[in-house]
Amino acid sequence: MFRLYNGVEIPETGFGTWQIKAGGEAYNSTISALEAGYRHIDTAYAYENEESVGKAVRDFGIKREDVFITTKLPSHIKSYDGAMEYFDKSNKNLGLDYIDLYLIHAPWPWSNIGQECTEGNIEAWKAFIEIYRQKKARAIGVSNFLVKDMKAVSDATGAQPMVNQIRYFIGNTQPEITGYCKQNGILVEAYSPLATGELIGNETLKKLAVKYGVSVAQICLKYCLQNGVLPLPKSTNADRIKANLKTDFTISSEDMSYLDGLSGVGSVKFLRS
Ligand code: A2P
Repeated sequence: MFRLYNGVEIPETGFGTWQIKAGGEAYNSTISALEAGYRHIDTAYAYENEESVGKAVRDFGIKREDVFITTKLPSHIKSYDGAMEYFDKSNKNLGLDYIDLYLIHAPWPWSNIGQECTEGNIEAWKAFIEIYRQKKARAIGVSNFLVKDMKAVSDATGAQPMVNQIRYFIGNTQPEITGYCKQNGILVEAYSPLATGELIGNETLKKLAVKYGVSVAQICLKYCLQNGVLPLPKSTNADRIKANLKTDFTISSEDMSYLDGLSGVGSVKFLRS
């Protein structure tokens, strides 16, 4: 478990559902994840699979408090009322009574990456604070935010995000934003911890995986965990879903330093998440 600064505990590996199609694929993958032992599922309104994820969790029959559910406000919604409206839509889609962690999906719309939306982010963040105050979400945070975006919402409201979910993997550790988060007690979550699969065939990582008797995916996920970052691997394959939870080995500090020094092993550009 990781512990957020408000005391909420969050299972240390989450099941990522970006790019998993609504319907059978999302439903079956979520069931496979729950069967494998995941107790943390990450979705978003924009993934269009909240209903399938929610139904799988309900059908699996797990107690609500035993599973941690994250979802996200669409990136183009930059108003107080819009945030309130879309929270209710996501909550209804999931059908799980409340949300564990609600995130602003990005500081700008995916259709216009880098657009200046500071005022809109502050308005949305005020709605998030109200959602949290009303106990409709156990924790609130952001995704894809840079330091300036995080400072803007924190300074305007006096309440800093509890989480920042970013594209993070070996060779793309975003030291400025991860450093800021660590200094301020904000949990960093890694989406695309395998660089959306790009790292799997990497020869350097393959050699290291052989040394530890694990897979490249397991090296990538353990790298996140040993850096205090919560990975959100995505897979639609039951065996890989299961294997991605097995991280009970330790990467030596020399090998961690070596991995810290790698760059260019996966593409660092923003991809729509
Ligand atoms: P698949 O869904 O067929 O398993 P990321 O989590 O960085 O977004 O990466 C997801 C990509 O990596 C998907 O294409 C997924 O394919 C693949 N993947 C996930 N887990 C593994 C694994 N253990 N070994 C190989 N490929 C994996």
